Amino acid sequence: MNLGVNIDHVATLRNARGGVEPSVLEAALICEMAGASAITVHLREDRRHIKDDDVLNLKKHLKANINLEMAATDEMQKIAMSVVPHSCCIVPEKRQELTTEGGLDVISKKDRIKELICALHSKNIIVSLFIDPDLDQIKAAHEAGSDYIELHTGTYSNAFGGEKQDIEFNKLKIAAEYAQSLGLKVNAGHGLNYENVALMNKIDGLCELNIGHSIVSRAIFVGLEMAVKEMIELI
Ligand code: PXP
Repeated sequence: MNLGVNIDHVATLRNARGGVEPSVLEAALICEMAGASAITVHLREDRRHIKDDDVLNLKKHLKANINLEMAATDEMQKIAMSVVPHSCCIVPEKRQELTTEGGLDVISKKDRIKELICALHSKNIIVSLFIDPDLDQIKAAHEAGSDYIELHTGTYSNAFGGEKQDIEFNKLKIAAEYAQSLGLKVNAGHGLNYENVALMNKIDGLCELNIGHSIVSRAIFVGLEMAVKEMIELI
């Protein structure tokens, strides 16, 4: 299983003082050196953390895959088609949310998502849809032509250690198996940390975990390289 490191929080810290440190590119290069297979950045409509220049800079200097998280808007489609990241993960986006709160509703936006996937495919960009472990949404993701789904692990992560842990874990396992049976490749992420990540090893065939908050938090104490290496060891 591969690790994609989400470095949005590095940009959040940088933006807190409006300067240039900590450098998003330097963080990405350290993650890459530590063994991350992908660097994930979410270019939000309000540019609250990652900026357009960050994406361009990463594209220019990084060997690891760039996974661009983005909403299914015309603006983001245009940027993705001009930057051409390795992959795009389509997420729902609400202006006021602290982080991506739920999975994408592929069913109700199927035509638009299909059109977006076609456009991204025309540039050989791999597409993933960030969705809850909901079998109907997975079916719709398949019908829309997605290559991957990224299962939203937020509810599982919040339930970890409590009475609903097994229920939420089983939803992810069943969802992953169903997606794979349709031919979709499966990633997972959101809320994963150094404790709850262990169970992800019990889901067969997961390709990549996308993890941000817990790695950047751990990096404050042990450094980013060690934080990434420790997570890779666990997965
Ligand atoms: N995957 C997706 C689609 C996300 O939106 C996020 C958060 O930006 C993550 C993974 C990483 O979540 P976390 O920061 O909780 O590890």
